[in-house]
Amino acid sequence: MTRKFKVLLTRRLHEFALNELRKRYEITVHKGEIPMPKKRVLAEIKNKDGLICFPYDIIDKEILDSAGKLKSISTYSVGFDHIDVNYAKKKKITIGYTPDVLTNATAELTIGLMMDLLRRITEGDSIIRKGKWNEIFGPFDYVGTEILGKTIGILGMGRIGKTVAKKALCLGMNVLYHNTKPTTKTGKAKYVSLNELFKKSDVISIHVPYSKNTHHMINSKLLGKMKKTSFLINTSRGKVVNEKDLLKALQLKKIQGAALDVFEDEPINKTNKLVKIKNVVLVPHIGSSTSETRRIMAEITVKNLILGLNNKKLVYSV
Ligand code: DGY
Repeated sequence: MTRKFKVLLTRRLHEFALNELRKRYEITVHKGEIPMPKKRVLAEIKNKDGLICFPYDIIDKEILDSAGKLKSISTYSVGFDHIDVNYAKKKKITIGYTPDVLTNATAELTIGLMMDLLRRITEGDSIIRKGKWNEIFGPFDYVGTEILGKTIGILGMGRIGKTVAKKALCLGMNVLYHNTKPTTKTGKAKYVSLNELFKKSDVISIHVPYSKNTHHMINSKLLGKMKKTSFLINTSRGKVVNEKDLLKALQLKKIQGAALDVFEDEPINKTNKLVKIKNVVLVPHIGSSTSETRRIMAEITVKNLILGLNNKKLVYSV
């Protein structure tokens, strides 16, 4: 009889997905502290053939070295910057991920954050809750910024960038973008240099993946090129932005506001000064977080793992 593969999940997944795995494999689902403490991962991974992980699990050389039997990793995310991909590949471990399926959800959140920021929705909500609504319909009270006719600058024209561009065009915005090189299927979006993007846009939206090359790519130098009336939105990875520089730009009103779904440290530290300032909207890394998308991500994550363990081509392979 052939041996049943052993699979580790660093946290719970949808029941249907767990059942698919249980039918085939012996599975261990980590319960308790999230992310799964490294010590636990190191101990558990030793005899596992498959690993299902999530963006906060750092799958580094040490973990890969202690995973003597590991054939397949499947991450429940489009980002894979938490995995030492080169090292895993050297060890002939397959890596699956979940692009495409979360493109729309993340693009929707980006548009939602833009509307929130420009029309001061969260701020209005908190004004009411704090009992501070004391002006009625004055011409100058609680005014926001109209979206129609404004220019959005998209940094990173991959799947999510292109979908944001499409939605922004439908809202009557002008769309500029910057990418490592000009790309196709961008509709009326116009390619510009990085400097031009930051100088000309009313809203900058970041959609580049995190890597050595994009670490702190958005810093005081680029923020300094933005209009005083402009806004920054980040739904990609926190470390793409130098948070200290952004904080300063917001405090000194060098830009008008920012909306952030991602942070240098997640969950955000309570002492983080971003929490204290007004001209920023903060959400807890919810780009892909719709019930529809999260379910499809579970489906793909399980498929990728099963295919990898069976030496077949993955649905989405890194
Ligand atoms: C991803 O899938 O990489 C997202 O950022 C996680 O929500």
